[in-house]
Amino acid sequence: MSRRLEANSHPANDQPVFIRAANPNDVPAILNIEKSAPSAAHWSADHYRSRILSQSQAACFLVAECRDDANKPQLGGFLCARIVAAEWEIENVVVHPLFRRQCIATQLIQSLIEQWDAAAGTVLLLEVRESNMAARGLYERYGFREVGRRPSYYRDPDESAVLYTFDRQTIESRRNRRNVNS
Ligand SMILES: CC(C)(COP(=O)(O)OP(=O)(O)OC[C@H]1O[C@@H](n2cnc3c(N)ncnc32)[C@H](O)[C@@H]1OP(=O)(O)O)[C@@H](O)C(=O)NCCC(=O)NCCS
Repeated sequence: MSRRLEANSHPANDQPVFIRAANPNDVPAILNIEKSAPSAAHWSADHYRSRILSQSQAACFLVAECRDDANKPQLGGFLCARIVAAEWEIENVVVHPLFRRQCIATQLIQSLIEQWDAAAGTVLLLEVRESNMAARGLYERYGFREVGRRPSYYRDPDESAVLYTFDRQTIESRRNRRNVNS
């Protein structure tokens, strides 16, 4: 699927950011973004390709098309979620250091939630290293709830995983809050 899902403004340089479904041609750029982030999950090109090809049935894989300072188009970030029946699990979200703190991850998550909502998903799950305050800040700001910890879940270095969920109740309360404020 190459349909553009959504356009938003790019707060830093006012260039549009397009969130769209990934396609296999994006894999080299995805690997490049992933390499820039030691805290991300690291997969092979084949693993990314198979996730991309399993979209709509078993995965939701989104990329953010951005523009650099010279107005050159480039992928600025990506998000991959596994779909198991009505449960969606965010497996990886990475934004290239050049584009961080410009709401790219927020827009990727927004787009994922819209698709999860449209597909009548029941829950969105994820786990993250306890020390990854950037990712935890992102999820918590979006309304994900911490529901548990898995001690010593990660290696190199040994670290606990923090588990987060986002469910129908969370989306309804976000909607109600928006209605009250509008
Ligand atoms: C986590 C990550 C995806 C965030 O991407 P991003 O596009 O910079 O995030 P956003 O600009 O949408 O930030 C949204 C909110 O998340 C939080 N946040 C993001 N980066 C943060 C940081 N470095 N420190 C603290 N909070 C941070 C803030 O609440 C931020 O809102 P604000 O900018 O208004 O304060 C990015 O830092 C990244 O790629 N990290 C490496 C890979 C990784 O660890 N992925 C998570 C694996 S589970």
